[in-house]
Amino acid sequence: MPSVFIKTYGCQMNERDSEAVAAQLVAKGYSLASSERVADVILLNTCSVRDMAEQKALNKMQNLVAETRRTRPNVVLGFLGCMAQSRGQELIDKLPDVDLVIGTQKFHRTGDHLDDLLARRRDKVVDIAEEQGSEATIKEHLSYGGRRNNGDHRSPLQATAFVSIMQGCNQYCTFCIVPYTRGAERSRTIPDIVAECRELVSRGVKEITLLGQIVTSYGKREIGVRDGKSAFVQLLEAVNEIEGLERIRFTSPHPKGYGDDLVDAYGRLAKLCESAHLPVQSGSNRILKLMHRGYTRERFVGIVEKLRRVKPEMGITTDIIVGFPGETEPDFEETLSLVREVKFDNAFVFKYSPRRDTPAATMPEQVPLEVIEERHTRLLDLVNEIGKDKYRRQMGQRVQILVEGPSRKNPERFEGRTRSNKIVVFEGSERHRGQLLDLKITRAGSFTLYGDPAILGLD
Ligand code: 5AD
Repeated sequence: MPSVFIKTYGCQMNERDSEAVAAQLVAKGYSLASSERVADVILLNTCSVRDMAEQKALNKMQNLVAETRRTRPNVVLGFLGCMAQSRGQELIDKLPDVDLVIGTQKFHRTGDHLDDLLARRRDKVVDIAEEQGSEATIKEHLSYGGRRNNGDHRSPLQATAFVSIMQGCNQYCTFCIVPYTRGAERSRTIPDIVAECRELVSRGVKEITLLGQIVTSYGKREIGVRDGKSAFVQLLEAVNEIEGLERIRFTSPHPKGYGDDLVDAYGRLAKLCESAHLPVQSGSNRILKLMHRGYTRERFVGIVEKLRRVKPEMGITTDIIVGFPGETEPDFEETLSLVREVKFDNAFVFKYSPRRDTPAATMPEQVPLEVIEERHTRLLDLVNEIGKDKYRRQMGQRVQILVEGPSRKNPERFEGRTRSNKIVVFEGSERHRGQLLDLKITRAGSFTLYGDPAILGLD
């Protein structure tokens, strides 16, 4: 049977989609190639959120065309995911050597389309239609499913896994392409999600991250509020009941969905980890309004305060865009002051990138690139300074980690994450994989901690 190599760009949702496509293809008898050089099918699962991500995938495909078409003309080349969805046929017009373009609601059709192309029943396939019920199709996992297995089904058991709970977004932030690439919000049912989580736990998974473009809007239309609890909190309660599961995380929420029911859930649900990725985007109310974010700076700070009241050790990270159209120096200084006020554990800082079809792309007062670059550097410096301090404060603390596998920075060592989502590297071995381990933090590096097993009673 042919072998497939999938390269993934972008967010965790994309990683999860690639994993589900790989699992689907393995179930059909395809094998997973260890590298693109030996693959019969090469698929790029793409990201559209910033122009740079699109350019990366386009350049990669151009290189693949140049490399394969001379020596291996029968290799099937395809684009999957967000850029495939937003550009469709245009990708084949631009790169006529591309055989396959599959949108975000058609991942589950990848196997059938590849069969057709490989059997030469079809010459090209572009499938980017909407499909009702597609949110429930991302449920296959490789037999050793989970994050960081690079699609290699022979890799050892994974302690952590992603579960997709919803697709799409109805928020229409003015900078964001997601509603156009991922479509309207659609949620899976609670029993369907719980069954998938149970199955993963039965295979040894200890930590599950619930995924969606805006998870706090989970089940709004389909399930609704019950006993004062949002559908998302109802889902968290149901997943918290799963025996054998140790930890629950989720990403990405929207600050406006952080009601008191969700804040309280951190106090009530033992498995829900003390960590939140809360994208704030800007510290200026004027810019937040132009972005159509649906909250003010004060409301955001209020949520953070409430979360820290319930769980003082809460790890809080964020996303920030610099150089949104109309952002003045005083607006940007509001962002700096918010970062100083909240003291995020980490923040991902993005340079504003105009996206097609989004309102912000045609707003007046686009910020010049040099100004964006300069603000980006200033904000990153501040984020790093605060992050350094936050990580340093962990020294001497005793923390619990879930061991995920060899360290990405130093494969001689092992690593895991604290409940507050900080990576800890330690002298470990394969036997630690999947274990919950108590460590004492001995050193703090750049957004990484180093620890030693804590021996009770000796410190
Ligand atoms: N330009 C720059 N950053 C963007 N993001 C989303 N759209 C854009 C854009 N047009 C950032 C946001 C979001 C993260 C995933 O990507 O900060 O939270």
